[in-house]
Amino acid sequence: MMFMSDPRLLRALKTLSKIKRVYLVLSSKGGVGKSTIATLIAFYASSRGVPSGLLDLDFVNPSTHVILGLRVEDIKYIEEKGVIPHRIGLLSYFTIVAYTRDLPLALSGENARNALRELLSIVNWDNLELLLIDTPPGISDEQLELIYALRGVIKPLLITTPSRLAWHSVSKLIELLRGAGYEELYLVENMGNGELRYLVEKQGVKYLGYVPYIKQIEDSIGDLNKLLQLNVRANIDELVSKLLV
Ligand SMILES: Nc1ncnc2c1ncn2[C@@H]1O[C@H](COP(=O)(O)OP(=O)(O)OP(=O)(O)O)[C@@H](O)[C@H]1O
Ligand SMILES: [Mg+2]
Repeated sequence: MMFMSDPRLLRALKTLSKIKRVYLVLSSKGGVGKSTIATLIAFYASSRGVPSGLLDLDFVNPSTHVILGLRVEDIKYIEEKGVIPHRIGLLSYFTIVAYTRDLPLALSGENARNALRELLSIVNWDNLELLLIDTPPGISDEQLELIYALRGVIKPLLITTPSRLAWHSVSKLIELLRGAGYEELYLVENMGNGELRYLVEKQGVKYLGYVPYIKQIEDSIGDLNKLLQLNVRANIDELVSKLLV
């Protein structure tokens, strides 16, 4: 395909193929907890001694740095043979915000595409076991490009709530991903209690588990110690174990 002639995408493929497990976190609806779940999975995995990474590619509403309690100016990364991500213990972290700090407005079209290509190719993820990539809600052309270009090195991790509307829209996303050649799809039910398992498995998608709704999350945003003590820790630890298989 045309876009594969972009050397940045080829470099991105090479960089990501060195990481054992790369999950592209997707949802067709907004606000279902992509950023929260992606951040908690990567952070909990790192706190269990697994070298993990979190890359925020949400060019619409980047928010993982807020969950981790980082101010943009605190996000340190070293430019040396590419960019070395910010480190929090064993968590390697990079966000589109660090890259676009001068551009407070949401990126769109060609700018978003360039930023995504650039970030995927320049960040130097050293020896990670697990990388979670957070994305904006829905499927934009920019995301579609990644879905097609990075097939083979990324696994889609869908997040949805049990609401019927969310499920309706995630079903279409499943179809789209299948059409793009993805056979292995993973799904986490957020703010639910397992009611989606049957429907998800019927679609041939791997149901990894659920995370119940808890008010405590809101008070823990930005505080790493509180995040480590969430009531849903056991649920998310189970997701981590399944993602590491
Ligand atoms: N299990 C949960 N229990 C309670 N609140 C939650 C849970 N998961 C996420 N939230 C809250 O729901 C809101 C949306 O979460 P989040 O920003 O992670 O969703 P998102 O899918 O990344 O949104 P966007 O589509 O805008 O990127 C946040 O306020 C978050 O704190
Ligand atoms: Mg988000």
